[in-house]
Amino acid sequence: MGKIIVIYHSQQYGDTKSLAEALAEGARGAGAEVHLINTNERRVALEEFLSADGVAIGTPDYFSYVAGTVKTFFDDIYLWDQSGKTVKGKPAVLFFSCGGGGKVKQPLESLAQRFFQQKGETVRSDRPITNEAKKKCLALGQELVKNISSRASKK
Ligand SMILES: Cc1cc2nc3c(=O)[nH]c(=O)nc-3n(C[C@H](O)[C@H](O)[C@H](O)COP(=O)(O)O)c2cc1C
Repeated sequence: MGKIIVIYHSQQYGDTKSLAEALAEGARGAGAEVHLINTNERRVALEEFLSADGVAIGTPDYFSYVAGTVKTFFDDIYLWDQSGKTVKGKPAVLFFSCGGGGKVKQPLESLAQRFFQQKGETVRSDRPITNEAKKKCLALGQELVKNISSRASKK
């Protein structure tokens, strides 16, 4: 059984949170231990990051960029990497909510590319969040677990 952390910022309506919860449901259903962290409530600790086999990262579109607390998470990974910790190369899936713009997709993917191996397609959801977007997130959670399981069996 692998361990997944779902790292997301949600603040305004709970949109990104509901996507994160759907993704967590998919990952749990596929057999993983799942932890959710809303970066609007607290920062991600190094130890919990290191202990994860796979990561899901979600953000609302804020001014065509990731939310500030999600940027802080990426800043922290960079600094952990610089201090010699093995933080690169985990499989990751990405999702975002937006008011209709959605330009955050490119910066989110480009930040993730520096540190992670992205799996699947980034899920976009315009508000209000639809069941279809939740289903895509659920499937993304399952896909992430499938990926970490096949990595574990190759070890
Ligand atoms: C400060 C701020 C900036 C935003 N900028 C954008 C934007 O540039 N493009 C867009 O499509 N939506 C934008 N939105 C809308 C949010 O992305 C959208 O409401 C999102 O679903 C909120 O997610 P949450 O309920 O999880 O906090 C912005 C919202 C806020 C609060």
